[in-house]
Amino acid sequence: MSASVISSAMEQNLSQGSLIRRMFEAGIELRKKYGDDAVCDFSLGNPDLAPPAEAARAMTALAARMSEPGILGYMPNAGFSWAREKLAAWLSSQQKTALEAKHVMLGCGAAGVMNAFFHTVLEPGDEVLTVAPFFGEYRFYVGNHGGTLHPVPCRAEDFGPDVEALAAAVTPRTRAVIINSPNNPSGAVYSEEDIKSLATMLEEASKRIGRIIYLVADEPYRFLAYDGIEVPAALPLYKYSVVISSFAKNYGMAGERVGYIAVNPAMEHADQLMDGLIFSNRVLGFVNPPVVGQYLMADCLGTSTDAALAIYTNRRNKLAAILADAGYEFTLPKGTFYFFPKAPGGDDKAIVERLTNNLVLAVPSSGFGFPGYFRLSFAVEDAVIERSAEGFRKALKG
Ligand SMILES: Cc1ncc(COP(=O)(O)O)c(C=O)c1O
Repeated sequence: MSASVISSAMEQNLSQGSLIRRMFEAGIELRKKYGDDAVCDFSLGNPDLAPPAEAARAMTALAARMSEPGILGYMPNAGFSWAREKLAAWLSSQQKTALEAKHVMLGCGAAGVMNAFFHTVLEPGDEVLTVAPFFGEYRFYVGNHGGTLHPVPCRAEDFGPDVEALAAAVTPRTRAVIINSPNNPSGAVYSEEDIKSLATMLEEASKRIGRIIYLVADEPYRFLAYDGIEVPAALPLYKYSVVISSFAKNYGMAGERVGYIAVNPAMEHADQLMDGLIFSNRVLGFVNPPVVGQYLMADCLGTSTDAALAIYTNRRNKLAAILADAGYEFTLPKGTFYFFPKAPGGDDKAIVERLTNNLVLAVPSSGFGFPGYFRLSFAVEDAVIERSAEGFRKALKG
């Protein structure tokens, strides 16, 4: 018998670790050694903007109600019914689909909700496809519930989904395809044509293998699309689609953990799927979404994100100029707050090491299942971008 205090699977997880977290920890060490103002940390996608003013007003109003019995108590596992109604109305126009409260469930961040979804729909041994590069945590969100994630490389020219390659990856065990647009880490925004052709492929494949293949649109960066690009709504394009998102990135509330799922009302038995999701939300231990977060969300819903978009646009352009000037090869991100430049010589670990030696922190793209690039998050103050120019230049020369 092993004397280990943890399982062998957990030992393996821990030994692989998260490259993003590792860079974050390297940043703490570098700051201790060289001082806060010397390090340019582009490793974490933690939005640095304040939440909208409505959040402060909601908080004040809620504080005044703290003597009400049960004010911070449990509520139905899917969230407050008034919060679901408000969310459904807001999402109906965004997703061009008539949604009611019964089609949406609130949960603990997009991450918590995605776990609830896979807990609800996966059989042991099921496969879930996604487009590489991808948000590395997907492996765990699927693996936690008996499935395995199968990344399929994106289209080489523009990081879009390679629908033919996805079709070739479908097996009788395929249960879902996760798409993430705007994409972390590539910054790509998928076109409506791409999602339509993916939908057509999934309809045919579902018929062929005799089971529903879900399309999971993970959209926490929907609000961050630049130059007037519109992020297409997935729900009207495919019957067995769900949208998962959160208020982490758009309202700067990542730590408050309010996420949601919307189920396409066009699918048969949408109510059964919702019952399963609500049960999963409960038994995975999330129980219900945070109380305070729902009040903040409800008051922030519909507030303009134009100010945030303007700030990120300005930062994107600043960092683009610095990277171009230093000689990096990259595509200007169409969405998100990430750059995904090519690693010189295709060695992502080497360039990240050289950048670290010059006090610039980035994440190697191996962590996103797509070696040969590195990710830079520009959810940082302008001053950090401005003082990074020399580090970027020296790292490339070195
Ligand atoms: C693509 C993607 N999906 C999901 C999440 C998780 O979001 P949340 O913090 O709402 O759980 C993130 C967070 O960085 C992300 O980048």
